[in-house]
Amino acid sequence: MRTRPLKVALLGCGVVGSEVARIMTTHADDLTARIGAPVELAGVAVRRPSKVREGIDPALITTDATALLKRGDIDIAIEVIGGIEPARTLITTAFENGISVVSANKALLAQDGAALHAAADANGLDLYYEAAVAGAIPLVRPMRESLAGDKINRVMGIVNGTTNFILDKMDSTGAGYQEALDEATALGYAEADPTADVEGYDAAAKAAILAGIAFHTRVRLDDVYREGMTEVSAADFASAKRMGCTIKLLAILERAADGQSVTARVHPAMIPLAHPLASVREAYNAVFVEAEAAGRLMFYGPGAGGSPTASAVLGDLVAVCRNKLAEATGPGESAYTQLPVSPMGDVVTRYHISLDVADKPGVLAQVATTFAEHGVSIDTVRQQGKDGEASLVVVTHRAPDAALSGTVEALRKLDTVRGVASIMRVEGE
Ligand code: NDP
Ligand code: HSE
Repeated sequence: MRTRPLKVALLGCGVVGSEVARIMTTHADDLTARIGAPVELAGVAVRRPSKVREGIDPALITTDATALLKRGDIDIAIEVIGGIEPARTLITTAFENGISVVSANKALLAQDGAALHAAADANGLDLYYEAAVAGAIPLVRPMRESLAGDKINRVMGIVNGTTNFILDKMDSTGAGYQEALDEATALGYAEADPTADVEGYDAAAKAAILAGIAFHTRVRLDDVYREGMTEVSAADFASAKRMGCTIKLLAILERAADGQSVTARVHPAMIPLAHPLASVREAYNAVFVEAEAAGRLMFYGPGAGGSPTASAVLGDLVAVCRNKLAEATGPGESAYTQLPVSPMGDVVTRYHISLDVADKPGVLAQVATTFAEHGVSIDTVRQQGKDGEASLVVVTHRAPDAALSGTVEALRKLDTVRGVASIMRVEGE
């Protein structure tokens, strides 16, 4: 057992960082035994130095994260500040100073993962980020390491705790959107700017990271098709219920049948109540990974919150400390396949479309003809009339997204179609 401690700089001490510090302190003896050397919290960089931080020696607090990284005795930096800057510059500074990094920062990894991996490799250091995707759930490491000998063809799941919490509350208690978002924020699930959660940016960043790992290619945030959940209404939940479904914000990553391209998307979708993802409640996440040899694997657990996320950070800390003692590094980026990311128009799925139409003879035929003209086959139609107007709900068979978009554009031009109330994809059947 080595007696000289491995020294850790904690960059950020908010919802996640404060839990990391607490577990490092309360489980110090166990961590020492598991790593084979003591691990010491050597400095904590924050923005507001005067804030009271329970259990943290005030002498460790600094607002100068750069000086902390440059002082010469730090072995590992844990970046839990979030956002692009100063996190990116600090991680780069860490690598330039021989410091391995553990980060929970999906926004940064989705935007600059390739450059950060290259910087880690160039300096013979580790960059670990289990906490960046799906909170406490071990997912990044199983995909990077346990499934490294298999071929992953599809990943589908719920990867944002805040939006799952909101959708679950709207569905199960009839809570309003804002009320549910406020509760998720108070519980520490939401990002500093919750727009990242509700508009799907956070899930898209996680989708980019997972797609890169799954398909051994480079997928950036901009490559991921993204729709948030702010437009999902009580009427959508009522329609979903009539179909025996609920609504979830899903991330779906697919390898094309010919293996020559991939797609990556995040959007709300109806899924059957019998599907395992339908019963994922509150801020839990769940991800299905379909691999050629392994078959279908499901990963499930708390997807957000200080303590669950700290668990993932601590797991990475132990791994990086072990690597350091072994004078080795863990796996770096694997992007050798260089597969292109196809546009959303190429994605094939089913759709649930609600239309407000005039309630008169021939309207249904006109609508059906429009679908047929665009090559979209109708599975079911339900019509409800009221005072000369009608609501028409069309569920399609599988069709390319581009064909559906063309259909909707043409429907909007029909005199008899007063409006397109909602379009939702149907998944998991
Ligand atoms: P918080 O906003 O709670 O904490 C951010 C911390 O960073 C605070 O301690 C803040 O200081 C500090 N900070 C901000 N700017 C600076 C700066 N310029 N220099 C030094 N410190 C700074 O965020 P979270 O803990 O919720 O999230 C941290 C990271 O973890 C993000 O990347 C997030 O996406 C990720 N994550 C969060 C999860 C969650 O459930 N919350 C789950 C998974 C990942 P001060 O305390 O003084 O304000
Ligand atoms: N805001 C994120 C979420 C935190 O709600 O999932 C976990 O990454």
